[in-house]
Amino acid sequence: MPQVIGVPKETTAGEKRVATVPEVVEKLIKLGFSVKVESGAGDAADCSDESYRAAGAQIADSAAKLWAESDIVFKIGVPSAEEVGLMHEGQTLITFIWPAQNPELMQQLAARKVTVLAIDALPRMLSRAQKMDALTSQAGVAGYRAVIEAANAFGRFFNGQITAAGKVQPAKVFIAGAGVAGLAAIGTAASLGAIVRANDTRAEVADQVVSLGGEFVKVDYEEEGSGGGGYAKVMSEGFQQAQREMYAKQAREVDIIITTALIPGKPAPRLITAEMVKSMKAGSVIVDMAAERGGNCELTEPGKAVVKHGVTIVGYTDLASRLAKQSSTLYGTNLFRLTEELCKTKDGVINVNMEDDAIRGLTVVKEGNITWPPPPLKLPAPPPAKAAMPPKAPKHGEASAPASATRTAVMFGIAALAFWFVGANAPAAFLGHFTVFVLAVFVGYMVVWNVTPALHTPLMSVTNAISSIIAIGALVQIAPPMMGGTVARPEAWIHWLAWVGIALTAVNMFGGFAVTQRMLQMFRK
Ligand code: NAI
Repeated sequence: MPQVIGVPKETTAGEKRVATVPEVVEKLIKLGFSVKVESGAGDAADCSDESYRAAGAQIADSAAKLWAESDIVFKIGVPSAEEVGLMHEGQTLITFIWPAQNPELMQQLAARKVTVLAIDALPRMLSRAQKMDALTSQAGVAGYRAVIEAANAFGRFFNGQITAAGKVQPAKVFIAGAGVAGLAAIGTAASLGAIVRANDTRAEVADQVVSLGGEFVKVDYEEEGSGGGGYAKVMSEGFQQAQREMYAKQAREVDIIITTALIPGKPAPRLITAEMVKSMKAGSVIVDMAAERGGNCELTEPGKAVVKHGVTIVGYTDLASRLAKQSSTLYGTNLFRLTEELCKTKDGVINVNMEDDAIRGLTVVKEGNITWPPPPLKLPAPPPAKAAMPPKAPKHGEASAPASATRTAVMFGIAALAFWFVGANAPAAFLGHFTVFVLAVFVGYMVVWNVTPALHTPLMSVTNAISSIIAIGALVQIAPPMMGGTVARPEAWIHWLAWVGIALTAVNMFGGFAVTQRMLQMFRK
């Protein structure tokens, strides 16, 4: 007998999302399941009962009926006491649970002798788990929406414009925390044309920030920011002090701040003080995505948009729900991918296989037994750590600057002596070539160093095309003899070889420029 997947209407106040959408219902039915949706469950996400029915679902007219008739229940929000009360033995619930924060709920669920898969407990570091990662899909939507909320509250354009009425400067946006939500916010703000800067305690995200069109702003303090598993840790007091100074400077300069910084199991780090808010220009906007976990900004009021010191501070805690159709579609797809993993036989019956790492991690209650926390994952050993950097002592910072200046002066002195030696002894022709060589190395170094790493590949192809300047050698060979006959015609075979050389170099030249053009187009919006 195929099992019934039930989708109730969400009960959390203001929740607009729904755990599945009609497009996904069709796929679930193809996997062999029957699908039941509570009447009105998708209304706020633009999914009518009619559209579910057209996709093959049945509509249940009450929550009680739906819970009673479902073998598996798909939800988004943490279940309420009433919903737990509606569960029956043998039923499976898949939703957000946050087991560490909700120990009582875990006991209540276990008492109902059910199986519970907490989508928030998915081992995200397994690459196989990415398609089921609802934390990522929802954070991505929320990051996008945070920028839209900021744009809504901001009284100017994001992009710079030159109009008949005058020049408009682009907005400057600073993103604190470049995890999933932060990166989505960087991409969105950059695509709207703003100048985007971002900071994170995990230095490894710097390249991702740059690839999305942002600039990574470093804190002037050496400390490893990774707390394991791709997450952050609480930083030292010294780091926090240096970070506050950098954030204070950014607050004075930028128009919009979007904060996304979180540390697992800890309150959100306080990054934006009341003083920083005061220092911002009138009309500036802060969107605090960490509002639910205490806020990254001291003046945030969770769930509200308030104006303080002339700055709008948006503390909405339902950003993903504000794009209900999008977030429901992505969430529904995450749950469908999970269902595929649970039902490899495609016969409409799930198997909660505790031998599977991803399923084991998700399963927090199995047939009435609490199975959370799961045993640690056996991941491949990380590559050996690089030799530790010598610690940077901030107190001696001033003393080290003159030391490096002396070193530079000594090196320049040695180089000058070497030049004098070469100049005094080498033939004049060598000296000319050598000077050109040194200048070429210098110019090449400066050019490559000042190009964004993401553009190094097109730079290589364009320099490759430019290297076709060697064609000049072949051109000289095929040129007619100069007036007065000072340059003799080359032998025929050299002449034809020069033509072949020109043809091949032309391929390199035109091909190189064409490839560069195509690569650059990939970076254009
Ligand atoms: P999150 O929501 O816990 O934190 C958001 C960001 O805030 C993180 O990037 C964190 O480093 C940053 N942060 C924390 N304290 C900060 C501070 N004091 N100042 C500045 N920034 C601070 O993290 P999220 O977005 O859920 O995921 C974080 C990372 O986890 C991702 O960027 C990724 O590297 C990793 N991840 C890996 C996955 C995988 O391996 N498949 C899947 C999803 C995430």
